Amino acid sequence: MRQMRLSIIGFGTVGRWLAAAIDQRRAWLEAECGVAVSVVSVATRREGFIHRDAGLDVSALLGLASAGRPLVDAPGTRRWATALEGLTMTESDVLAEASNTNPRDPEPALSHIRQALQRGTHVITSSKGACAAAARDLVAFARQRGVQFRMESTVMSGTPVLSTLREGLAGTRVVAVRGILNSTANYILTAMAEGRDYATALAEAQAHGYAEPDPTDDVEGHDVVAKVRILAAAAFSHAVTPDQVIRRGITEIALDTVQRAVRDGRRIKLVATVRPRPEGQRTGSGFLPPEACVEPVALPLTDPLSRVDGVMNALTLQTDTVREVTIIGPGAGPEQAGQGMFADLVAVAKA
Ligand SMILES: NC(=O)c1ccc[n+]([C@@H]2O[C@H](COP(=O)([O-])OP(=O)(O)OC[C@H]3O[C@@H](n4cnc5c(N)ncnc54)[C@H](OP(=O)(O)O)[C@@H]3O)[C@@H](O)[C@H]2O)c1
Repeated sequence: MRQMRLSIIGFGTVGRWLAAAIDQRRAWLEAECGVAVSVVSVATRREGFIHRDAGLDVSALLGLASAGRPLVDAPGTRRWATALEGLTMTESDVLAEASNTNPRDPEPALSHIRQALQRGTHVITSSKGACAAAARDLVAFARQRGVQFRMESTVMSGTPVLSTLREGLAGTRVVAVRGILNSTANYILTAMAEGRDYATALAEAQAHGYAEPDPTDDVEGHDVVAKVRILAAAAFSHAVTPDQVIRRGITEIALDTVQRAVRDGRRIKLVATVRPRPEGQRTGSGFLPPEACVEPVALPLTDPLSRVDGVMNALTLQTDTVREVTIIGPGAGPEQAGQGMFADLVAVAKA
């Protein structure tokens, strides 16, 4: 049986879900992938990097974490003050990076990812900020180092859109990607289509736990801009800076405007679009980056995105061969993000 040593940076809701899934699915991983996965390191900001060459006892660690006890209490462990130090001083085959970044800030995840790739370690990550800032470069660097870099849960969480682009639609030419990629914004717009005003809809989303106490990144479109940047890298191998993405959020939309659209047989959605510019548009340094925008659009009911309501997300992939594929699914949640990382781990294990 092949051994696969895994380090997990970020032991919050996503990191813990992944660790528990690995523990529970050991027999499946062995039978399906021929690997015995051993979690050798776990890191958090407050506790630093905990490591055991022979593998940590995952259920003991999860017990310590949920009891609020120090992870270093786990027997036989060594500890470094920071994840970066620990990554430098220890060996593992795969890094699962699940520390918390906001969509506009690549750190601390980006440094962890670069360090691991530099050391020839495969990386799977759920950190949107790092991937938004550097996905194209990280993919290229991983390739150069002969390892994998995967980021499934950064766009639509566990709903498999990036693996569909990478594996399911391998070799096809992507013409455009369009999507509803933020659950909070979609919940609010759905509630407004049903007649509630913005403030009521936001309060409802917060009460359900769908919206943060400070919803700025979701309602002003910053979270979707991060996903657009990741899609530009994944679909078109292009780096896009935030100021190259046209961004309009949903805070200025009046209830009356949403209701008028409903009466006209349309639905207003916060739509992300990425598509290459028409051929022939070149700058001195080569092709311009793809057109990228995040904006409220009144969609006709014939558009599959118009029917995606509440906290559901969707992505329509337009390609030269299979034409149009729309994937609908949940766009957030620890279970979903953890599952996206688990699928990435399986892809690494099977490669
Ligand atoms: N939850 C979701 O629905 C979801 C969905 C898709 C993607 N994601 C992404 O997945 C990532 C993790 O999310 P989460 O919900 O699990 O967050 P979380 O519950 O807040 O946990 C974050 C973890 O990262 C650790 N951390 C922060 N800075 C660190 C550092 N410098 N070194 C080592 N560890 C560090 C934190 O340690 P401390 O506790 O000591 O601060 C904590 O253990 C985020 O980037 C998020 O955007 C989440």
